[in-house]
Amino acid sequence: MNYQAVIFDLDGVICHTDNYHYQAWKQMADREGIYFDESINSRLRGVSRMASLEIILERAQRTYTAAEKEALAAEKNEIYRQLLMNMSPADLSQDVAATLRQLKDAGVKIAIGSSSRNAKTILRQIGIFDWFDAISDGENITRSKPDPEVFVKAAGILGLAPSACLVVEDADAGIRAAHDGGFHSAGMGDACGNDEATYSIIAFHELSDIVLGKRMQNGPVTE
Ligand code: G6P
Ligand code: MG
Repeated sequence: MNYQAVIFDLDGVICHTDNYHYQAWKQMADREGIYFDESINSRLRGVSRMASLEIILERAQRTYTAAEKEALAAEKNEIYRQLLMNMSPADLSQDVAATLRQLKDAGVKIAIGSSSRNAKTILRQIGIFDWFDAISDGENITRSKPDPEVFVKAAGILGLAPSACLVVEDADAGIRAAHDGGFHSAGMGDACGNDEATYSIIAFHELSDIVLGKRMQNGPVTE
C-alpha cells in the first residue's frame, strides 16, 4: 500500500535522545535514592514528562507533593536540556537523512508526532527543523500516547486522513496510539515485533519500500 505521508516519532526513531532521557532521569532518581533501571526506562517511551515521573515514583520510599513533583520534573528537564545542547547535525544518521530525503523527493509528506515539549529544540539542534510539513508535539496535545491525539493532530495539519499516513514508532505506547487512531504503523527498536504494528523494521531505510508500496504488511495480506 502507498502512503501519502509518514508521521515519525522523534525520540528513539529520528535520533537517540531516548538515551539522554534515561541519563537525565537516572541522575534525578539516584539523587532522590529511587531505584531506576533500563527496563523501567522502557516504560517511559512515548509517555509525557509528568506521567513518566509518576512511573518512576512507583519505586519511591515516600509520597511526593504536587510541588515536589513539579520540581523533580523541572530538575530532570534541566539536565536533559543540557545534554541536548551537545547535539549537532552529526547526530543525524546517514540512514535517517537519506531516507527522509528519498521520501520527500517522491512527494511523500513527512511529519513529527512526538510527546516531547523539547521536539523543536532537538530538530533545530540536528539541523532538520525545516524539513517537516507538520510538527505535532508535547506543546499542542493534552493527552500523551497511548492516546492517538498527537498523530491525529499531525494528520490534521497535513490535511490527510489517518488511513493515508504511516506512523513510525519505537514505543509500544506509540503503536497503540497509532492503532487506536486508525493509522498503519511501523515498529522499530523496542516496538519491533509489536503485534499491533502493521510492519516491523530493523533499519530505517526499509521505510522507503513500505511507503512506496513495494513491501507488504506483516502477516496475512488483507487488502
Ligand atoms: C518522548 C519520550 C518520552 C518523554 C516524552 C516527553 O515521548 O519518548 O520518554 O518523556 O517525550 O519529553 P519532554 O522532552 O517533554 O520531557
Ligand atoms: Mg520514541
